[in-house]
Amino acid sequence: MFPRPTPVPPPEERALVHPDVDRAFIGALVRDFYGRVRADSRLGPIFAAEIQGDWNPHLEKMTDFWCSVILKNGAYSGRPVPAHLKLKQVQESDFDIWLGLFRETAEARCPPGVAEIFIDRAERIARSLKLAMFFRLDARPAE
Ligand code: HEM
Repeated sequence: MFPRPTPVPPPEERALVHPDVDRAFIGALVRDFYGRVRADSRLGPIFAAEIQGDWNPHLEKMTDFWCSVILKNGAYSGRPVPAHLKLKQVQESDFDIWLGLFRETAEARCPPGVAEIFIDRAERIARSLKLAMFFRLDARPAE
């Protein structure tokens, strides 16, 4: 009998192991990104309406989230879909702005080869959030 080959999980399910990418690195990236979001004329007011006063709890939660996504350390245990479903003023095109700022931040801060990983994960999650928020089967019969 031959041993069964060990199944290799897809890249998005594997932890990134890189000497520079730890919680401190991710926390700084998150703070830089939300600085850009808050300065954006379209996204800034959407976030300002939801987060009044102290931004630190949100920034810590988002650091947990990105540590879970990238380092697979289980730091985040929230539910992003309901948090976004209640944001009635968000349009599908706002995700392009969000992703553009995220890409800029990741490219500015990450060591070689790492920005692509953050951006790929962000795009996948954005796609599933957009499906949850905007996808509707059109029930009308074709004309
Ligand atoms: C136009 C796009 C987006 C807008 C306007 C938006 C806005 C928001 C707002 C206002 C909150 C609530 C903040 C709070 O009360 O703490 C939030 C939470 C969150 N967002 Fe987004 N978001 C967007 C896209 C994304 C994307 C693409 C991701 C992931 C890659 C993401 C991940 C999260 C997570 C993990 C939370 C915390 C949910 C929880 O556990 O409470 N968001 N977002």
